[in-house]
Amino acid sequence: MADGTRGQGGSHNAQEPGRSAPLTNRQGHPVYDNQNTRSVGDRGPLVLEDYQFLEKIGHFDRERIPERVVHARGAAAHGWFEAYGTAGDAPVSNYTRAQLFQEKGKRTPVFIRFSTVVHGGHSPETLRDPRGFALKFYTEAGNWDLVGNNLKVFFIRDPIKFPDMVHAFKPDPVHNRQDPNRVFDFLSLTPEATHMVTWVFSPWGIPADYRHMQGSGVNTYKLVDAEGRTQLVKFHFQPKEGVKNLTSEQAAEIQGRDFNHATGDLYDAIARGDFPEWEMSIQVMSDDEHSELDWDPLDPTKLWPEDQFPLLPVGRIVLDRNPVNYHAEVEQVAFGTGVLVDGIDFSDDKLLQGRTFAYSDTQRHRVGPNYLQLPINAPRCPYATNQSGGQMDFRGSEAAARGANPHVNYEPSSRNGLTQQAPAGPPPRPYVAGHVGRQPLSRPNNFAQAGERYRAFEPWERDELVKNLVDALSQCNRDIQERMVGHFTAADAEYGQRVADGLGLPARAAAE
Ligand code: HEM
Repeated sequence: MADGTRGQGGSHNAQEPGRSAPLTNRQGHPVYDNQNTRSVGDRGPLVLEDYQFLEKIGHFDRERIPERVVHARGAAAHGWFEAYGTAGDAPVSNYTRAQLFQEKGKRTPVFIRFSTVVHGGHSPETLRDPRGFALKFYTEAGNWDLVGNNLKVFFIRDPIKFPDMVHAFKPDPVHNRQDPNRVFDFLSLTPEATHMVTWVFSPWGIPADYRHMQGSGVNTYKLVDAEGRTQLVKFHFQPKEGVKNLTSEQAAEIQGRDFNHATGDLYDAIARGDFPEWEMSIQVMSDDEHSELDWDPLDPTKLWPEDQFPLLPVGRIVLDRNPVNYHAEVEQVAFGTGVLVDGIDFSDDKLLQGRTFAYSDTQRHRVGPNYLQLPINAPRCPYATNQSGGQMDFRGSEAAARGANPHVNYEPSSRNGLTQQAPAGPPPRPYVAGHVGRQPLSRPNNFAQAGERYRAFEPWERDELVKNLVDALSQCNRDIQERMVGHFTAADAEYGQRVADGLGLPARAAAE
């Protein structure tokens, strides 16, 4: 396997021999002298007609695109998804008609980008943060993106809170340092975050690397079967090599010598043929409100307990090829929660719906209006739209490429243009009724799963959690400390007491 690694994604080592090739400029003109600008005499001044220099510097000046507003620091790789054809013991078609899952052994190309969340493009990869786990499946029925994280839950459940949350987590707008007082000011007034905070401040908040962490779509989606019937679903990925996390001390030691350790680990493992693998599973429940539960299945701050909603394996994912150009692939890849295939649909999860606007909106700005034409983002199945123009549109007529009349860039038409297609099966037709208004979910249950999580941790994980929280909260004002202790006490009396003791405070539970 290791022999194939050069072709699989290039070498880590810039010194490796290759063949040298003639250097040209972007217009294809040979470059005769790449050491000296054109000047009047050897001491200058430079002359303005030095196109070679102007082109080179002009391109350099534009090398960067805006970095992602969140998840700027990432690493990615290519690979494939292989379907089991089943979901647990049942045929997968009992749940979904999505083509990529149906046939046992069928492979679909994937690209996965892992990331940290809060800090910039070259920030250390040892920071305490959820990790992004974003997948693009290049299916025969179009692309499917699943944009998730490693912790299976999220801080908030309403998308209108996301910009405030990110502002609080990012560096201070005045002195440009991340400030626990700002982070916990927001979190102490956001009780629904207590479950996620409990994960993030435990060792699970610093995964050892990207190969040893779980992935999850987090939001609730729907599966659609051949009859158009739907079920609620969550998607999960379990690393074959198991989960490995770091203590704060271990992370500090790694960061002292390598702030790119996770990117390096992923790249080097793939380059040596040690291909990371995850098993993909689904959790399903019937598509209704589930009033028997004291939490809402559409609430992304909640896990679906695996004893009630078992993990049903549906396939595996292997990453076996490194990108050959970081910018072209990893920086310009664009994932979005709106990108679904037939057989998978949106649920009414409000966070999911808010996200679905945000991703393609930011990508038209960050990468450009034609970001979907880039090879990393384009589907790998036949496709043709009547969309055209905008900056960097290089496709020409997609209609002509599919044999349709290139003069017809509208629909309907009687002149052999692109035509709409029959759906693959009956579309789901959810019925929705209710009063329009700004309304929180009626079953917030903000603390129970945080307490269950605290009790489920191993003793060393609990010790780390308490230590990490006390370290961070000791930098906060007393009112913020008290509100946070209130949340932890409401989750579990011992949890709250231990954090309170560390801060020298009495433990008092917050109201739901
Ligand atoms: C309302 C809530 C959210 C909003 C508005 C939001 C918005 C965004 C935006 C604007 C980006 C940058 C995308 C780009 O420039 O390509 C992003 C990236 C990302 N978000 Fe979210 N996000 C939200 C919640 C979440 C949640 C709940 C998760 C995890 C389940 C998540 C996971 C990610 C990941 C993994 C990326 C990086 C994708 C990549 O690798 O390119 N986000 N988000």
